[in-house]
Order: sequence, then structure tokens, then C-alpha cells
Amino acid sequence: MRHLFQEQLEALRAQSLDRHLREITTAQGAEIEVAGRRLINFSSNDYLGLANNPRLQEVVIAAIKEFGVGAGASRLISGTQSPHVRLELALAKWKGTEAALCFSSGYAAALGTIPALVTRGDVIILDKLCHASLIDGAKLCGATLRVFPHNHMGKVRSHLEWARREHPNGRVLILTESVFSMDGDRAPLRELVELKKHFKALLMLDEAHAIGVIGPNGRGVAAAEKLTDCVDVQMGTLSKAVGASGGYICGSRGLIEWLINRARSFIFSTAPPPALAAAALAAVDFLSSPEGEQRRLLLRERISLLRELLPTDAMNKKATDATSAIFPWIVGDERAALSLAFALQNEGFLVPAIRYPTVAKGSARLRITVTASHNENQIRMLFQAIKRLSGTS
Ligand SMILES: Cc1ncc(COP(=O)(O)O)c(C=O)c1O
Repeated sequence: MRHLFQEQLEALRAQSLDRHLREITTAQGAEIEVAGRRLINFSSNDYLGLANNPRLQEVVIAAIKEFGVGAGASRLISGTQSPHVRLELALAKWKGTEAALCFSSGYAAALGTIPALVTRGDVIILDKLCHASLIDGAKLCGATLRVFPHNHMGKVRSHLEWARREHPNGRVLILTESVFSMDGDRAPLRELVELKKHFKALLMLDEAHAIGVIGPNGRGVAAAEKLTDCVDVQMGTLSKAVGASGGYICGSRGLIEWLINRARSFIFSTAPPPALAAAALAAVDFLSSPEGEQRRLLLRERISLLRELLPTDAMNKKATDATSAIFPWIVGDERAALSLAFALQNEGFLVPAIRYPTVAKGSARLRITVTASHNENQIRMLFQAIKRLSGTS
């Protein structure tokens, strides 16, 4: 077995595309410990600092005492416990949709949902920068796949025209993210909604990096732009700003009933642990509370500070979105991005180098994420270190 992959691993190493696990010996937070060293953590999607929140911990412990650790079976067999049901009711209410369905991860939500919606004879129109979960769901479903350059509405229109001409009886599904995971910019949602209405297509929006951060009560970009009713399939994850684990789909009652019957990653997988559903429920309640609003305001202050400090040239951030917590620092070369991340780690910062296949070859970058748990000083120190190490002013 070792020999079998030796050459391929060598090839990855030669291109600086090899990946390794890093053991964190503490809980998640603005500071973590790696190999006995404290590092300031600018790598996490725990945007509101809920992953190690004491209230969520208490909820999980209480739920384990009441409902046990494992769910024991898939949701349709005997795995649907009260926390799952309560969470789905709360998610639907929070997102303003008729119903919601939880999956064991955001990845599983995409992988199960997309093939349940479209198949051979149908068409998927997908943004080039969409997350792997959407791409994999799109590849799995058997529909014809048309990719458009990032946020290029002219190309979406021409793909839609093509789809309507070539597949007049097929279903057409547009897939995109509201906040893009590796660039931090937003999709032009209003324009997409116009197009999808005009061509009678369906729109599935992944709000993984928007919920908790953007919109009223952290409901995401669709809610912020008052377009909730225009997005047919609203996807998200409970593992980032929500601080727990799992994924969800929100939408019409019909959609959710259909997914219960057809989404294979939902049907053929053990239900998520009930205590995690309970934690996600507590987090969703938190998002709608005055305390949640305070935490979002704090996050926004931190985002503004980092935005203000980082120079424009290496960042496409300033030209893009002011409200997301994701700051790409484009380096280009894979080796150079790794070296910069390594140098930052030596200075006490964990900032991951993101390389192919997560982003296109030659567009390697540092992905800096800021959270409400960071203090101003930590952000200023990161800025100083990046400035020093990359020779920018
Ligand atoms: C945009 C996007 N969608 C979906 C996912 C998958 O969510 P999960 O981590 O819950 O599987 C992620 C992150 O991992 C993501 O960044």
C-alpha cells in the first residue's frame, strides 16, 4: 500500500500541493495550541466564537444525559429524536421558510439534495468558484453541467437560454453561494433571482459563510436582501458561525418532504447525534437574541478593522464585500503561499495557505478569517506580521 501511493505523494510534494493534518490540543478559540505552542488562530469559521461557548456546552451535556450519545439509526428508521425535530422547526422559523431538514453535514446536505432535484435530461448552472460539496452534488446527479465564470451574469443568461433551447422539458437548477468560501465576496443575488424567474429555473443558495454573520438575526444574504421567498433551496451549515455540526436545507414543505423521500445522504446515513442538534438549536436561538446581535456587531467591528489595516493591492477584499469575515491574501505561487503561512506560524499566527484543488492552480492564498473572539490587538499584530513578512506597506 505504501508503494502504491509513493509516486503520487512525491508528485504532490514536488508541486507544494501535499496536505497534512495538524493536531490542536485545545478547544477552538482565538488562541489555540499546536505542538505545545500558543498560536493566534485566524483559520477558523467559528465566526461568533460559539464552538466552545459555555452555554452550548451545558446544552450538549444536558442533551446527552436525556437523549444519549448516538442516534442509533437513520432518521427514517428510529433516529429522529426530539432535538432533531425542535431544531428543524427553529431553523424554518428563523429562516422564514415553511420547513427545514437537517443533515449530518453541509457537504451531505449538498450531496443529497442536488441529485434529488435534478437528474439526466436536466441542467445545472454553477458558479466556477462554488464549494466542492456543490460541485460534487452536481457531478453526481447526472444532469448536464454548465459552469459560469465567477459571478458572470451574462454567462448565466446565455447558459439559461441554451438550457431552455436544448432541454425544453428539463428542469434547470442554478447553484451558487451567497458568500464565497475562499474569496469572501458575494453573489449578485438580486440579478440571479431576476434571471431565474425569467427562465423559470430553480435557485439553490449555499449560505454557509453568511448565516450568523449577515442579515437580520444572522439569517444570511437572502434575508438581508429580502429575497427569502425567491430562493427555492436554502442551504447552510451548522458547523461554522452556528458553532456546532451538521447541515440544513430550508424551503417549502413540498421540497422538504421530497428530500425526506429522495435525498440519499439523508435516508442512508445515521441521524446526527441528538446533542449536536440540541447545540445547534441553542445557537440558532442565540443568533436571534440581543446577545447574538451584540456578538455580530463585535464581529463587524473586527471585520472593519482588518479591512482598514490590510493593504488593497494583495487583497481583492476591498473591492468586494465589506461584511464577510473572510479575507483572501492572494499570493499566487503555491510554494510562496506555504512559505508565508509557515513564517506566520513561526511568529505565532495560524493562517492557512489555501492551494489547488481548493482554489485554481496559481491562485494560492492565505485565507484569513476574523471572528468575534479576536481582540483588536491580535488583529493589529497579524497585520504587522504580514506587512513585515510580505514586504508590503
Ligand atoms: C461554502 C461551503 N459549503 C458547504 C460546506 C460544507 O459544510 P460542512 O463543513 O458542514 O460539511 C462548506 C465548508 O466546509 C463551505 O465552505
